Amino acid sequence: MNTRSRIRAGAAAVALALLAAGCTGSGSGSGVRGTPGAAGLRDPLFPRLGNGGYDVSHYALTLSYDPATGRLDGRAEITAKATQDLSAFNLDLAGLTVRGATVDGAPAAVNRAGDELTLRPHDEIEDGAEFRTTVSYGGLPQTITDSDGSEEGWLKTADGALALGEPTGSMAWFPGNHHPSDKAAYDITITVPSGVKALSNGVLTAEKQAPGGRTTSVWHVAEPMASYLAMLAIGRYDTSSTTSTAGAGGTIPVLTAADPEVAAETAALRARIPEILDWQKENFGPYPFAASGAVVERDDDVGYALETQTRPVFPASSFDTHTLVHELAHQWYGDSVSPASWKDIWLNEGFATYGEWLYAEDFEHTPAQKNFEKAFANDAAWAFPPAAPRTPEDLFAAPVYQRGAMVLHRIRQEVGDDTFFEILEGWPTKHRHANVTTEDFTTYVESVTGRDLSGLWDVWLYGDGKPDKPTD
Ligand code: ARG
Ligand code: ZN
Repeated sequence: MNTRSRIRAGAAAVALALLAAGCTGSGSGSGVRGTPGAAGLRDPLFPRLGNGGYDVSHYALTLSYDPATGRLDGRAEITAKATQDLSAFNLDLAGLTVRGATVDGAPAAVNRAGDELTLRPHDEIEDGAEFRTTVSYGGLPQTITDSDGSEEGWLKTADGALALGEPTGSMAWFPGNHHPSDKAAYDITITVPSGVKALSNGVLTAEKQAPGGRTTSVWHVAEPMASYLAMLAIGRYDTSSTTSTAGAGGTIPVLTAADPEVAAETAALRARIPEILDWQKENFGPYPFAASGAVVERDDDVGYALETQTRPVFPASSFDTHTLVHELAHQWYGDSVSPASWKDIWLNEGFATYGEWLYAEDFEHTPAQKNFEKAFANDAAWAFPPAAPRTPEDLFAAPVYQRGAMVLHRIRQEVGDDTFFEILEGWPTKHRHANVTTEDFTTYVESVTGRDLSGLWDVWLYGDGKPDKPTD
């Protein structure tokens, strides 16, 4: 389009918007009468998490980190589509200092209140328009302590740092829409002093020298990713590369990294990832991402394993077969099919736990029924219904994991193995790379089985307390 017709088309669009909005010009010159996007998405457990009024499609993060000073500097370029006429919108960011922001190339006014960053663009943004935001920021990123005492966000390690974000820690290292319902593609470019490595999610597309004796690594995540699954691992690592054919579209790279102190002791299990993915492909369907792997840290550096997308993170002492099977199962259940809100977390943890029960059944002579009975006998599993965690503290508690897995086993008991395994594979296939609610799941199971299973849901998913032991 030449310049003249572009101006004319633009003028026509403004005129149409004026007509549609029924306004005669506000004097601001933009012609749109937008309102601010909401400062939170009203997640029942984290009401202020995420932001309304737009939907992110892509994050380009350009970061540099200096382990000697602990300083992170970054530029986030966020491509999003407005879902309302916007006069302003929010991003979540914990700590750090914002140096400046632009929207579609023009400087935007920035306001800061706690973890909420409000950007007021020079021109209002029309509903449906794609817009590009840049935020320049830096500082010493924070470690966030969750209500269950776990540490996430930015974790300093002996020789670098680890960025982990479930449920809310990713806002400690980049601004964004930090709710799992707004998934996006990512390109993460990270520069660190040469001699330490910087790993992230997805595929390493470039590694190059940077000024000042530094190295830049470029990581590409093509499939939608919830921000809580974004990861950075900076430090000295021994790495190992292989491939897997479990992916939907052919051979994919499998890259593992381990702190040199724990590299030798974890090498044999790291090498088993392709074999575990092949077994999971048989049960869950093709592996949903273009890369796989793992990062194994010293126990002092991280307190729990996390299913960061494509490349889960483990402390060495929990890098065992079951935990590896669990975090890899999350790639289907949680990472590709993600919860619509945090109260749906049992759809992550119940399935990943059931993945362990299936592994025990296939390779360790322990039928899932045995693990069901063990979980049933665990008093802690009955503290609350798995589909109704009451507080953020409940998110990673026994009812979510064990009673979540019990729900799946109850379905298996009701419908039999053939239909059950059809559900296990059909669910992540139907909702690949999307977000789901607990109701989506019960509706799906009832549609596959053609049965009304409301009795099962009432008792096992939503019911308070321990039911009678089912007779098998
Ligand atoms: N989702 C992790 C798992 O695979 C656990 C994360 C624990 N995080 C926390 N903040 N407590 O089970
Ligand atoms: Zn888990």
